[in-house]
Order: sequence, then structure tokens, then C-alpha cells
Amino acid sequence: MNAKAIKRIIHGSSVSDGAGVRLNRLIGTSELDNIDPFFLLDEFRSNNPDDYIAGFPMHPHRGIETITYMVEGSFRHKDSRGGGGVLNAGDVQWMTAGKGIQHEEMPAMEKGQLWGYQLWLNLPKKFKMVEPKYQHITTENTPVYEQSGNKVIVISGSFEGLQGAANNYVPAEYYDVHLGTTIKMHAKKDYNSFIYIHSGAARIENQEITAGSMVEFHEGNEILIESSSANTGFLFLSAKPNNEPYARGGPFIMNTREEIAQAFDDYQNGKLF
Ligand code: FE2
Repeated sequence: MNAKAIKRIIHGSSVSDGAGVRLNRLIGTSELDNIDPFFLLDEFRSNNPDDYIAGFPMHPHRGIETITYMVEGSFRHKDSRGGGGVLNAGDVQWMTAGKGIQHEEMPAMEKGQLWGYQLWLNLPKKFKMVEPKYQHITTENTPVYEQSGNKVIVISGSFEGLQGAANNYVPAEYYDVHLGTTIKMHAKKDYNSFIYIHSGAARIENQEITAGSMVEFHEGNEILIESSSANTGFLFLSAKPNNEPYARGGPFIMNTREEIAQAFDDYQNGKLF
């Protein structure tokens, strides 16, 4: 094992988004704009309905994929093309916004814990204007690897031969790992890889990392992650960077400022739906 697999440790910041949903934002902040091609990572996790009840009313996207993973609770979603459905605990909605769609996500519950993640994957130039589509991934078609007290929920990519259901424009690995004692994770060469510790605490290269923090790894490493608390869990994310110029404007990510201006124009003129 490379003794210097850790590239950096990142702490999130508490923000408010949608109609006033309180979130821990890890990626898409002034400190960390992106880990190419991941341009946003939010954790919403609260027992207090005041933190989530307002939801995310109708808003547009272009140029990205938005991936919502529900851990606890449920969301109802609806889009401008007549699509919609309910996202229950364990479900993933992998939405390719492509050339443009509007959607809303509202809690389908009035009390209890809402816990989930929203991730944005930036599409490379050649896929930015593809037709929008959804992949609704349920617990029934999500493989789970279980060994030595470890449980790895494979949302996208493949882990120990188990292939996640997501069919991607950008090859990406997305796992939710419930750690037993230790596990080895692989930060592939030519990929950008990181974990977000959502529960408990872990020891990596003699550093103690507690829940709420992210650890980014240098590519091409095997990383030994040791649990140092009960019920430790983390998200593992890894993807090939686009390595392209980008411009971000609210819910749109394109390659140039002109394309962002065009997206706002299309939205205002009712051409983005
Ligand atoms: Fe959205």
C-alpha cells in the first residue's frame, strides 16, 4: 500500500438550498468547487421537519446528471416532461438532465428522519445536450456485497464482481459502505476518488477521520480503511475526470459562459423543459 494515498481531507459546510432545506454541502462550495467530474455533493439528514419540509420546488438543470440517493425517508419527484414517482429508502434516482429538464423533489413525509444525498456529475461536452432521462434504481436491483462484517451497496460501477444498475455517460463508481473492521478500497488510476464518512469514524494512514468529513485519494492506490467506532459508514465515489473547461451558473454546468447565458435564456423563454 502506498503510504501517502490521502490527497486531502475536506470538511463540509452547512448551507440552505431549495425552498430552505438545510444541508451539509461537501462539493460545490467556495472552498471546493469540484472534484472533476463531481460538481456537487449534498447530504440532507435531519429529524426536524423544519429542515426539509419545504423541499426542492420546480427548477431546471442542463449539462449534468443529478443523482439522488435516499437512505431514510422518501421524496416525491415530478418533472416537466410528465415523469414522476416516489423515491423510498434505498432508492436512487439517476437523472440525466442533458439538454434540459425541470424537476421538483418534495418530501413525501411530514415527520421522521429524512436522510439522503444529492450528487451532480458533470457531463462531458459530447453528452451535454443529450435527451434527458431517468434511471430509477430500487433496492431490488441494487447488489450488495457482504463479507467479514462489511456491506457494500453498489449503486454504480462494479465492486468485487457485483455490477451496479446505473448505466452511465461518465464511468463512475458509487458505493455506500458499511464498515465492519477493515476494508480495502481501490482508487483507480486516471480516476478521481474520495470517500465521505457519513457515520462513525475511520482510521486511514494513521489519521482519524470522523463523520462529516471527506477524504480525497491520490489515483492508483489501495487504501486500507479501518473502523474506529461502532457503525462506521461512508460513501465511496470515483470517476474519470472530464478535464474540460467548465462554466457553472446556478443549476447549469456547461463548457463556456456563453452556453450558460444560453441556458438561462432558454429557461426564461420556455425552451428548457
Ligand atoms: Fe435538481
